[in-house]
This record gives sequence, structure tokens and C-alpha cells, in this order.
Amino acid sequence: MIAELLLAAVLVGGVEYQSADVKKLQADEFANPGMLWVAQGERLWNQAAASGPSCASCHGDAAKSMKGVAASYPKFDASLGRVVNLEGRIDACVRVNQKGAALVPESPERLGLSAYVAYQSRGMPIAVSVEGPAKPTFDRGAALHKQRIGQMNLACTHCHDTHAGKTLLNETVSQGQPDGWPAYRLEWQSLASLQRRLRACFYGVRAEQPAFDSDDLIALELFLANRAKGLPLSVPGVRR
Ligand code: HEC
Ligand code: HEC
Repeated sequence: MIAELLLAAVLVGGVEYQSADVKKLQADEFANPGMLWVAQGERLWNQAAASGPSCASCHGDAAKSMKGVAASYPKFDASLGRVVNLEGRIDACVRVNQKGAALVPESPERLGLSAYVAYQSRGMPIAVSVEGPAKPTFDRGAALHKQRIGQMNLACTHCHDTHAGKTLLNETVSQGQPDGWPAYRLEWQSLASLQRRLRACFYGVRAEQPAFDSDDLIALELFLANRAKGLPLSVPGVRR
């Protein structure tokens, strides 16, 4: 019991709960299927948009300008007046700075750009702020994390804190950390955002799924990032 409590205090990244094969796939940049999206994101980064300048023409070399950026998201954005995740911040640049159409959730463009930007922070510790204007969003996320939902009447915390390391329907339940996302999920045959993963958890407990970009999902993302503070980003992750 005491050993379990001590273990629960240690942050364990998501890939540690995966099989040896999946771990190997994630670690090898030439084999990791998520790298295809990173490459697509790099192309988009350097390409002029139909109605505005390229990302690169304002931000320059992503390896320099975007280093560490993903580790600080979700973040309160003063120009938007709310907490946004990385995808939301990129989307704002597309709409406001490139005068383009909003990026559709889980589209190749949105996944590619967010994977490419996140990749510039690989290995860097998650370091979000939940103070000041971000506080109400964080509080909302903390409350949601322990709120029982769905027909199974379970909260995030019941699976990912109380039962982390145990097996559920052939899967080892992890701590539910965000460090590996966006990740390539073998079951989905695609890269996927953290929000898609969270929506799958809502589905798993037979609860209504919050919409992409909803306040609830942003709040949960901020709560998870704060709970994961110090864990290095390992993106793109690979999951079964
Ligand atoms: C019935 C148990 C259960 C509940 C409740 C649940 N999840 Fe999950 N969750 C899983 C399983 C199973 C997986 C896939 C295996 C894993 O990585 O834990 C998963 C995966 C995740 C992951 C991805 C971890 C990774 O490294 O790939 C995150 C993040 C996560 N859940 C967060 C949440 C949040 C937030 C909630 C509450 C809204 C929640 N989960 C509710 C079972 C659950
Ligand atoms: C016309 C110039 C311009 C273009 C084009 C542009 N951005 Fe931005 N971007 C900005 C400015 C200015 C900010 C700072 C936002 C603020 O604080 O108001 C920013 C902020 C960001 C941030 C957040 C940085 C941080 O430190 O939090 C990301 C990520 C980002 N942009 C990605 C992109 C991507 C990806 C593209 C291409 C799809 C893009 N931007 C296109 C001007 C631009």
C-alpha cells in the first residue's frame, strides 16, 4: 500500500506502458510512422499560404523559434483572451496571420503542423503555467479529472491514478500522461491529437464526448500538462 502511494507520486511517461515493439518503434525516428506527419508539417511550415505568408517568413527556422514552445502549452494567450492548446495557437496564426480558413481537427494540415512544432521540443520538460489568467481553466480541468462520468460512472483519476499499471481489456492502463501526444496510434492507423485520445476515454466509459476544442477538453489538457510538469515531451509518440 505504501509502496503504491510512493509509486503514484513518480511521473511515468506513456510509452513505458507499451510493449517492447512499440517502444522500439517510437524510439527509432526512421521507423516511427508519426515522422511522416512531422515531414508534412515541415513542408507546410515553409510553404506560402494561398492568402498570406508562410509560417517560416514570420517565425524563421522552427528549430530555433519553436524550441520549447510546445512544452509551455496549453497557455493563456493574451491576444485571444483565453487558454489555447498548441493546435489552437497554430490555428489562430493560420486565420489571423495567414488569412486562411480554420484548420479542421485531425486534418493532415493541423496534425502535421502541430507535430512539426511539437517535435522541436522533444526531450524538453513540460513546463506550463496555471497561475493568473490560466487559473480558472486549470481549476475546471482539476474538477473534471475527478468527476465521475458515463454509464461506467468512473472519473479519469479512477483509471489513471488509482489503477495505473493494471490491465483493462487487454490494455495496461497508464498514468494518462500527455507527454507522447500527438501520437501515432496503431489501432487508428494515423497520427492523432491528445484531444482525440481523450475523447476515446469518454467513449470508453460510455460518456458523451466533448467537442474538439471545447472548454472542457482544453481544461483537461491544461490539468494533465501541469500534472506532468517535468516529464520530457516524447513526440511523436507511438501507441498500440
Ligand atoms: C475506464 C478507464 C479509463 C477512464 C475512466 C479514462 N481513461 Fe484514459 N485511458 C484508458 C486506457 C485503457 C487508455 C489506453 C492505455 C493507456 O495509455 O493508459 C487511456 C489513455 C489515456 C491517455 C493517453 C496516455 C498515453 O500515454 O498514451 C490519456 C492522456 C488519458 N487516457 C487521459 C484520460 C482522461 C483525461 C480521462 C478523463 C476524462 C480518462 N483518461 C479516463 C482508460 C481510461
Ligand atoms: C504574419 C506573421 C505570422 C505568420 C505568417 C505566422 N505567425 Fe505564428 N505568430 C506570429 C506572432 C506575431 C505570434 C505571437 C502571438 C501573440 O502573442 O500575439 C505568433 C505565435 C505563434 C506561436 C506561439 C509561440 C509561443 O511562443 O507561444 C506558434 C506555435 C505559431 N505562431 C505557429 C505558427 C505557424 C505554425 C504558422 C504557419 C501556419 C504561423 N505561426 C504563421 C506571427 C505569425
